[in-house]
Amino acid sequence: MTWTHRPVISATGLYTPPEIITNEELVDSFNAYVARHNADNAEAIAAGALAPLAESSVEFIEKASGIKARHVVAKAPVLDVEVMAPRLPERGNDELSILAEIGVHAARDALARAGRDASQVDAVLCAASNMQRPYPAMAIEIQQALGIEGFGFDMNVACSSATFGIQTAADYIRAGSARSVLVVSPEITSGHLNWRDRDSHFIFGDVATAVLVEDAALAPAAHWDILGTKLKTVFSNAIRNNFGFLNRAHPESAGAPDKLFVQEGRKVFKEVVPMVSAMIVEEADRLGLDPRGLRRLWLHQANAGMNRLIAQRVMGHEASEDESPTVLDTYGNTSSAGSIIAFHKHSDDLAGGDTGLICSFGAGYSVGTVFVRKAG
Ligand code: COA
Repeated sequence: MTWTHRPVISATGLYTPPEIITNEELVDSFNAYVARHNADNAEAIAAGALAPLAESSVEFIEKASGIKARHVVAKAPVLDVEVMAPRLPERGNDELSILAEIGVHAARDALARAGRDASQVDAVLCAASNMQRPYPAMAIEIQQALGIEGFGFDMNVACSSATFGIQTAADYIRAGSARSVLVVSPEITSGHLNWRDRDSHFIFGDVATAVLVEDAALAPAAHWDILGTKLKTVFSNAIRNNFGFLNRAHPESAGAPDKLFVQEGRKVFKEVVPMVSAMIVEEADRLGLDPRGLRRLWLHQANAGMNRLIAQRVMGHEASEDESPTVLDTYGNTSSAGSIIAFHKHSDDLAGGDTGLICSFGAGYSVGTVFVRKAG
């Protein structure tokens, strides 16, 4: 089918919270919590009624994940052994929500790079893992803050929210129902991470990204053609978060660990790597592209080992940092924003005609691929 309207990526934007937690700082805080917990429960532990908590380590974190540091919106309370969660002051209904605020920063960056006035944008999709509230939609708040007419709505496909948002935006462009769509992914992952869980306390970081998807007829000369997008979901409980408004009916369980992020990390690794690699190769084939000829992969930033394996399977050789760049080391896993940060920071050097892939994967399970080619 030939579409009259051709969707492209006009620009991307990024907001990075200034505060950083290094692995050393994180492990110091976690181990202080462990020491205190074990001291407080010394009798039960000595009697064999309770297992002592084990310490975390910088070496393990780096070896298992590749993460060295992460940005967060509120460092002090996360490291405070009494709190170990972001504690942001509540804002009034007339103030911009924190999620909208960081989303607006990223969106403004994308608009400036595209030379686009907000009044020319038709829609805002807020695509992220964890919304601050059910309604009014974060997207509508961002829309209002930017002075955009048209419509906005929130969508959540966990770590794949941004790529699912890009396909949704691209479909609006193709259908002619919008000419310029902002896909904003504010990810305050520190709010759903269990900072007291040794297996996962090091995984996430906070950030916001924005992708401006537009009709080629409107786009600036420096843009990225969207060659094809493909989405896939397969139900899995291996990554789960049971937080929700129905929990308030059971106050005794409201603070339970399953109301935060939980995962079976090994299972996720084993199941997701083959699913993602196969999907990329199949989709490249459908689009008439040789996956080995892709100039760059901007992969979801969850785990360095996963990305190494996926890139190897797709490209047929061990990918260099130039072929599959990492931002995970300094950002941690930023959920849906990860592959967009990688694209944002590592795409200017590509030449016109170069083809690459933005790819996300995560809870659901969900996988999204966006094949792009630099214009010119
Ligand atoms: N510090 C020190 N040691 C730790 C530790 C920590 N924080 N957490 C676990 N360990 C130990 C375990 O006790 C275990 O020790 P044992 O072998 O003596 O029993 C060992 O390290 C291996 O633990 P395991 O949990 O199996 O680690 P792993 O090597 O599988 O790595 C993940 C864990 C989560 C980093 C890894 O599985 C992963 O990243 N998976 C991908 C999932 C993902 O990122 N999902 C996000 C959405 S896509």
